[in-house]
Amino acid sequence: MKPIKWGSSFSFVASVLARDVHGRCQGAEVITRDIAIVGGGATGTYAAINLKDQGKSIVVIEKHGALGGHASTYHDPATGTPINYGVQLYYDDQIGRSFFALLNITVSRGTFPDSKTPLYIDFTDGSPVLNYSIPPPGEDYFQALHKYPYLENGLELPDPVPEELLLTWAEYLEQFNLTDEAIATYSRPAVSGDITKILALYVFNNLNTVMLEEELEGKIIVNSNSDLAEPYSKALAELGSDVLLNSVVTGGQRGSKPTDGVRLCVSTPRGNKRVIAKQLVFSAPPVLENLKPFGLDERETNIISQFEGGCYYTGVVTNLGLPTNYSYVNRGQQTESHIASVPGVVMFNPTKVEGTYYYWYTSLSDLTKNQVETDTRDTLKRLQKTVTGADVNAEPIFMAFKSHTPLHPTASADAIRKGIYRDVYSLQGYRNTWYTGSLLVTGSSQLWNITSQLLPRIIAALER
Ligand SMILES: Cc1cc2nc3c(=O)[nH]c(=O)nc-3n(C[C@H](O)[C@H](O)[C@H](O)COP(=O)(O)OP(=O)(O)OC[C@H]3O[C@@H](n4cnc5c(N)ncnc54)[C@H](O)[C@@H]3O)c2cc1C
Ligand SMILES: *[C@@H]1O[C@H](CO)[C@@H](O)[C@H](O)[C@H]1NC(C)=O
Ligand SMILES: *[C@@H]1O[C@H](CO)[C@@H](O)[C@H](O)[C@H]1NC(C)=O
Ligand SMILES: *[C@@H]1O[C@H](CO)[C@@H](O)[C@H](O)[C@H]1NC(C)=O
Ligand SMILES: *[C@@H]1O[C@H](CO)[C@@H](O)[C@H](O)[C@H]1NC(C)=O
Ligand SMILES: *[C@@H]1O[C@H](CO)[C@@H](O)[C@H](O)[C@H]1NC(C)=O
Repeated sequence: MKPIKWGSSFSFVASVLARDVHGRCQGAEVITRDIAIVGGGATGTYAAINLKDQGKSIVVIEKHGALGGHASTYHDPATGTPINYGVQLYYDDQIGRSFFALLNITVSRGTFPDSKTPLYIDFTDGSPVLNYSIPPPGEDYFQALHKYPYLENGLELPDPVPEELLLTWAEYLEQFNLTDEAIATYSRPAVSGDITKILALYVFNNLNTVMLEEELEGKIIVNSNSDLAEPYSKALAELGSDVLLNSVVTGGQRGSKPTDGVRLCVSTPRGNKRVIAKQLVFSAPPVLENLKPFGLDERETNIISQFEGGCYYTGVVTNLGLPTNYSYVNRGQQTESHIASVPGVVMFNPTKVEGTYYYWYTSLSDLTKNQVETDTRDTLKRLQKTVTGADVNAEPIFMAFKSHTPLHPTASADAIRKGIYRDVYSLQGYRNTWYTGSLLVTGSSQLWNITSQLLPRIIAALER
């Protein structure tokens, strides 16, 4: 390994941080690797497994106690049945199939996860939303989507960015005579917060060909035990001590020259560790609060600070007191296109374990587990009063919870107009740092695709 030389180009802030790094990490065990990967979700794990397969040494620094990020699975204690309450399916393409093959997981063509007959209810008062159903997107939506192929696998936008993409979705529907597509398109994109404010650009980026093929053509792969966190538990076994779980970076230095490398101070359950690497892959959500310890310079701060993630939570609940042969979906009684009000439960979906449901919840500001579960319980109490055949005395029991906040960071119309995505792409490799976390698309397979295209560039940077 080449010796790491420290350039003289560090800013004042970085040198203050450097003292901090050395202070907190004084005498700590040193872990020297080609590449440090921060975040062990879909993209971080993909990068780790593929880089290791290509003979590179890596270390993964993951905040939580497991790999997998949004892929959260709860195992029913009585039967061991896996209940996927985050990620629900993987797209069937070569990228996903090769990743599963590297992990020795056998996959087959699957089907869209079946959901029982939906009851559409306004969760704020428990009233049923009558005569409502969700059609598939029509030909008009597909025609609109096909006008913007550059939104399908990332956000490499034309310059200038077409103004129509910066309209809210409601404005876009109106302007392009697509109001017949309102219900189909408002009820599908996996977005957090207030969907009435979503920009057209993000609707097309999310409700893209991949997502539509999953639902409408069943282009899905499944593994034999249907535990969607299996790739990540297999990866953890394979990577072993190269993964630092329950660990966060508390300070960092990244030089401006390739030979400067990356130095991190990492807080782990077994004390502080110093990580010395040539390159850094940042796969956690790229928002300011996550990147602060890395000694951002002005250029990085200006770009990163314009992104904000959404607030999203998922959990498993049983003993709902509601008939177990339905799913319960939140819709607004009086709202435009019956869009559900926020904050609130998005839906309760049945699982393979009779009577046990998983639920999703979204809000406008970050909430605690207790806040989400209290509001979810109150919601169930309202539904018990109005749903036929419900038991008003049943006390819901919460089995699992996961915060997905900050989810899929987005920028404002003004920032996009001024070229924030061009700036994001230009940041790749800057100060030995590469970004793979969900900033440019939302689905796992598409994120793996973007990550796979970055890996040769990261490997080339090791040789400089
Ligand atoms: C509820 C839900 C359902 C979804 N369903 C699907 C689906 O069915 N199919 C699909 O393809 N996509 C789905 N997605 C989209 C999902 O975002 C992507 O599939 C993918 O998981 C994103 O990968 P990522 O690596 O960007 O983020 P993540 O998988 O979230 O990984 C980020 C990792 O970084 C860690 N981390 C965060 N902060 C820090 C820090 N400061 N330091 C260290 N580590 C940190 C996190 O713990 C996490 O493990 C779903 C998302 C959600 C929220
Ligand atoms: C997959 O199998 C190969 C060959 O048996 C083995 O070398 C490798 O470690 C396995 N990988 C995982 C992730 O289990
Ligand atoms: C729902 O549809 C039925 C049959 O089409 C109709 O009779 C009824 O009035 C409708 N109810 C509402 C609330 O629109
Ligand atoms: C939408 O329809 C109106 C009225 O029919 C028409 O004037 C307008 O040109 C249409 N707009 C688009 C973008 O097709
Ligand atoms: C659900 O169960 C109830 C009570 O057994 C029954 O009346 C209803 O028809 C069932 N609904 C469906 C969609 O199976
Ligand atoms: C990966 O992304 C590229 C565009 O960057 C796209 O052309 C290609 O079809 C994608 N591959 C797969 C397997 O999805």
